Amino acid sequence: LLGNMKVENNELTIGKVKTTELADRFGTPLYIMDEALIRSNCRRYCDSFRCNEGRNRVAYAGKAFLTLYMCRIIEECSMYLDVVSAGELFTAHKAEFPMNRVLFHGNNKTLDEIEMGVKYGVGTFVVDNFYEIENLNEIAKRYNVKQRIYLRVAPGIEAHTHDYIKTGQIDSKFGFTPEKEVLLDIINKAEDMSNIELAGLHCHIGSQIFDTEPYMDAAKIMLTLIKKIKDHTGYEIKELDLGGGFGIYYTEGDTPKSIEEYTTVILKTVDDFCRENDMNIPVLTIEPGRSIVGNAGTTLYTAGSIKDIPNIRKYVSVDGGMSDNIRPSLYKAKYECAVANNVISDDNEVVTLAGKCCESGDILVDSIELPSIKSGDLIAITTTGAYGYSMSSNYNKNPRPAVVMVENGQSKLICRRETYEEIIQNEIM
Ligand code: LLP
Repeated sequence: LLGNMKVENNELTIGKVKTTELADRFGTPLYIMDEALIRSNCRRYCDSFRCNEGRNRVAYAGKAFLTLYMCRIIEECSMYLDVVSAGELFTAHKAEFPMNRVLFHGNNKTLDEIEMGVKYGVGTFVVDNFYEIENLNEIAKRYNVKQRIYLRVAPGIEAHTHDYIKTGQIDSKFGFTPEKEVLLDIINKAEDMSNIELAGLHCHIGSQIFDTEPYMDAAKIMLTLIKKIKDHTGYEIKELDLGGGFGIYYTEGDTPKSIEEYTTVILKTVDDFCRENDMNIPVLTIEPGRSIVGNAGTTLYTAGSIKDIPNIRKYVSVDGGMSDNIRPSLYKAKYECAVANNVISDDNEVVTLAGKCCESGDILVDSIELPSIKSGDLIAITTTGAYGYSMSSNYNKNPRPAVVMVENGQSKLICRRETYEEIIQNEIM
């Protein structure tokens, strides 16, 4: 039971709200977000990364889950926000998120996106390549602004869940290669550009990383680059962004570290390195996405058709699927789940939870033991808060589910269920 989930009268409650009531009120499929857990994760990141000392920053990676309401939460927590497209930037703008706290990412920002970012007053562009920096300088010139930037570097670490390989990530579409010549070249260019202010370096080593070691290595590699840049050009890079990727628990066997363990290791590695190498400690940023919202999300479905193939498999189909959670079919991602209206029972069986989309691969959970399910039962799949709604689609013209925030017995609709009219609104006969 994650966050504020409980079982009361054998029914699943989240934030003291009964899931059966949420289904009655908002319908299914439904994304339910535990607001207290989101806020507590934000607080734990900011506290343990020592943001209150006025230097370090935690930037929430909006790609995990971004709505107007989510922008408000991040703003209230005094955090920064990482956006990767004009659409995410527009969402932040509409939510009146302070633009100086926005980091604008992306390996191929279009000219329109760059212009929108400059026009809105985005605090920091994370520049990915030569093409972007030249265009950014030109556009910033037109708007008469000196645009702060970080340079994204591929540090040559590919972090996986259990092991990681150095050099692997050199073959990546993101960022500048970490060779000294390439970096000195881009730094010289940036210094010569009238409308660019080079403030820092950035890297991101992957996602759903359980170990702390890849972060220690990434920090050391990046600090070594900062030192080399200073030695060769005299230019002092004062800020360092180490990206996101901190792992979370989905199913048995997942062994993430705590938020505090990740942040503490990063702070200590940077402190030690800077002391040993007689460097100033840079202002640090991290960009967690999944680990802020992942465990806070639960998707509630209604079971419909049930197909039993004797001695082979029993399929229970639900009223959503790969259109609201593409992760099982895209990454073979595993999830835990429960029968929300009948959590614990003596009468269990192994079933496969299938989605309703027209694809055999639309399986949400493969072979899981659950209380025997009848059509009409509510199925809750946990840890769907990150990259669920944000990667949802209208495949098969399924409307996107509603999103509701729950906290302390209250529920708030933060995103309406899509209507059929909305699905066809851009179509022309
Ligand atoms: N910063 C940068 C530059 C990133 O590219 C990402 C994620 C993050 C931060 C946040 O990473 P997080 O803390 O959420 O792991 N759709 C995939 C995950 C893609 C992550 C892409 N970049 C999934 O569902 O597993």
